[in-house]
Amino acid sequence: MNKIIYLDAAASYLKSDAVIDSQVDFLRNNYANAGRGICARAIGVDNMLNSVRKKVADFIGAEFQNIVFTAGTTDGMNRVVSLLRPDNNVQVALSVLDHHSACLPWVATGAKTVLCPLDSQYNFDIDNISYADVFVLTAMSNVIGVAQDVEAIIRAARKKNPNVIVVVDAAQFVVHEKIDAKKWDADFIVFSGHKIGADTGVGILYIKNPDDFMPDKFGGGMVQVVDGNNFVLNCVPERFEAGTLPLTQIAGLGVALENIEKNRPDISLLKYMRDELSRLPQIQFVSPDGAAILSFVVDGMHCLDVGAMLGARNVCVRVGQMCASWIHKALGVPGTIRISVGAYNTIEEINKVIAIIKDIVK
Ligand code: ALA
Repeated sequence: MNKIIYLDAAASYLKSDAVIDSQVDFLRNNYANAGRGICARAIGVDNMLNSVRKKVADFIGAEFQNIVFTAGTTDGMNRVVSLLRPDNNVQVALSVLDHHSACLPWVATGAKTVLCPLDSQYNFDIDNISYADVFVLTAMSNVIGVAQDVEAIIRAARKKNPNVIVVVDAAQFVVHEKIDAKKWDADFIVFSGHKIGADTGVGILYIKNPDDFMPDKFGGGMVQVVDGNNFVLNCVPERFEAGTLPLTQIAGLGVALENIEKNRPDISLLKYMRDELSRLPQIQFVSPDGAAILSFVVDGMHCLDVGAMLGARNVCVRVGQMCASWIHKALGVPGTIRISVGAYNTIEEINKVIAIIKDIVK
C-alpha cells in the first residue's frame, strides 16, 4: 500500500508529534477545568491558559488582553458581527477573495455590501479602496495564495473613512507570514489553530479595543459576581469567553505556535511543481508564480475528476470551490485543483505527485 501524500495543508495542517504529545500529556496528566477551581490541578490549567494566551499575543505583536480564544476562523468572523451588532444602514466592504466565513456573516445581516476593487493580479487596488463602515480584508485568499499588503490597505481604508472598522481574515496568511497587529492597526484579526498545526476547535480573535464591546455570549466564566438579575462582568479578555474553553486544543496550540514560527512551509516546493507542470499545455494556473498555494485547472477535465484520480493514487489535494465561490465566479471556472504544503512535505513527495499529475492529464 502506497503511503498517503498529503498536499492539503491549506484545508488543515497535519499535526506534529510534539503537538499530539502535548495534548495527550494534558489529557492524561494535567486535565481539569480552567477559571473555576482552586486545587493545584485547576491552577495549573489556569497557568497553561495564561501562558498560551501570552504566546499568541507575542506571536502576533499584541497584548494579553487583546486575545480571545474561539472555536476557529468561522466562529471568529461570526463573533465579530455579533459584537458589532450592525443595522441595515451599515456599509460593509467585502471582496471576491473572501472565504464564505468572511463574507456570509455580513451578507446574512442584510447590511449594505460593496465589493472592493482588485487589480488584475487579485491584489486590493489601493488607489480605489471602497468607502465603508466595516472593511473586511482577506489577508491571503485560500485560492490565490498571495499575501496582501495589509498595512497599506488598512491605511487606505482609514483615509476613506477614519472611523472604519477593519476586520482581517488571516486564516491563510498566518501560516506563511508574520502578523503584526500593532503595525496593521486592524480592529479585529481572526485565524484558526488547525491551519498552523494545532488541533481543530480552537482559534483566535484579536480585538484591538476589547473594553469598547459588550460580550456577545453569556454564561459561566465571563462574570465575576451574579446577584439576582445583576451581574458584574469579568475583565477582558475572559469576559468574551463564556463556558468551558477547548483546553486540550489550547495546550496543543502553544506547541504549534513554536513549531510554525521556527518551521514555515517551504513554498519553493510549489514553485518547483509549477515549473514542472507548466510544460503541460493543458494546465492553466490560477494562482500566480511564487504564491503560497498552487491552484490550477486542466483543459477538458473537471476538477472533481482530477481530484478523484489523485485520491485514487493516495494523493490528497482539495478540489472544487474551497468555500470561496466569489473568486471562482470572477475567474470564470466552476472549480480549481489546489495544492498546498506544510513544513512536513518533501521534495520526494512533490516529484511523485508531479509524475502522477502528468500521467493523469496526458
Ligand atoms: N478554508 C479551508 C480551505 O481553504 C477549509 O480549504
